[in-house]
Amino acid sequence: MTYEVDEIAMPTSLDGPGGPQFLEYAAVSNAVENHALGTDVLSMAPAEMLAEYRDNPHRVRRHLVVREDRRIVARAMVTLRPHLPGNGAHLMVDVLPAHRGRGIGATLLEAAERIAVDAGAPVLKVGVAHSAASGGDRIASPTGFGDVAAHDDGVRFLTSHGYALEQITRISLLELGSAPRLEAPAPPDHRVVTWTGPTPDAWIADLAVLRTRMSTDAPSGALVELEDPWDAARIREHDERMAGSGRTALTAAVEHIPSGSLAGFSELVHSAAGPVAVQEDTLVLREHRGHRLGLLVKLAAADLLRRHAPDTQAIVTWNAEENRPMLDVNEAMGFSPIGYEGVWQRRALPGDGE
Ligand SMILES: CC(C)(COP(=O)(O)OP(=O)(O)OC[C@H]1O[C@@H](n2cnc3c(N)ncnc32)[C@H](O)[C@@H]1OP(=O)(O)O)[C@@H](O)C(=O)NCCC(=O)NCCS
Repeated sequence: MTYEVDEIAMPTSLDGPGGPQFLEYAAVSNAVENHALGTDVLSMAPAEMLAEYRDNPHRVRRHLVVREDRRIVARAMVTLRPHLPGNGAHLMVDVLPAHRGRGIGATLLEAAERIAVDAGAPVLKVGVAHSAASGGDRIASPTGFGDVAAHDDGVRFLTSHGYALEQITRISLLELGSAPRLEAPAPPDHRVVTWTGPTPDAWIADLAVLRTRMSTDAPSGALVELEDPWDAARIREHDERMAGSGRTALTAAVEHIPSGSLAGFSELVHSAAGPVAVQEDTLVLREHRGHRLGLLVKLAAADLLRRHAPDTQAIVTWNAEENRPMLDVNEAMGFSPIGYEGVWQRRALPGDGE
């Protein structure tokens, strides 16, 4: 059986041309993730997904679909960062559970890999939620932290297509209603600064340093991760895109008063469309670690969220399973795991894409 793979363009809006097709595409993505995790708590609102899926100056995404009876039953997405070609491409293939085991996934993966390799990607990466069920045969992460179910559809699929498991990402949820309210005073010579929405001019240069360091300082096992440089223009573009998508970034940072510069930050993203806020970057610069600044900025960000959007029910976060310092902070705040993602990688091969 052969399947027709179509590339689809992202619409400019959900109500315009291509909007209904995008809604079907988004529904496949949400349904597959919900099926793996056994919860819809991470379902993304289509408007937010569209904002993330449309191209921006630092990220190009290509989208493929397979239809049956004129309905989208599977999709693939290729994420490229043209300013950072050595980092490779991220691939994602989602097939609705009722349509699996017939070669649709293999057809889409091959098409996605061809796009990535034609774009010059030296390495292909996949980050995907796997079955949250514990027990049974497991495949261990080479980091020594975490494992995945050997029987999971995605685990079998990626293994048989030559991908190696490199790292486990823990997905954790903080239920704001029942979370303990911790206090963390700022150490001497430090003060917390917070802002809602776009980055204030005074902090743009410091935030560019922090975001750049984020790309290399989070644990990444044996994954190919090059430094992803940020500057003021990129921060402005990022902030404008966020505001244009109906989401609000809530940022808490800590200033090292003697130097007048930021030592760390933590950012939450709240959307009017959903009850769960998303934890984005948290980083304390290496030279400032060991003073509990991570807990300080995370608590300050959570407080900002409680004030800005008191109806928010929970915060979700993704962390490397080996990132003990960050997990310690999260566990102290009351985050608990709801599922795991595998991060997979394979080198592009000379025959790929022919
Ligand atoms: C992983 C996933 C994309 C696979 O989709 P799929 O359409 O079932 O993929 P395929 O049909 O090509 O292959 C799946 C299995 O069916 C088998 N198969 C393929 N065609 C077949 C056919 N005609 N008859 C019988 N078996 C077949 C394959 O050999 C493969 O077997 P395996 O599980 O032992 O490796 C799908 O399970 C999914 O969406 N999972 C959740 C998201 C995910 O993990 N994505 C992977 C990240 S890229």
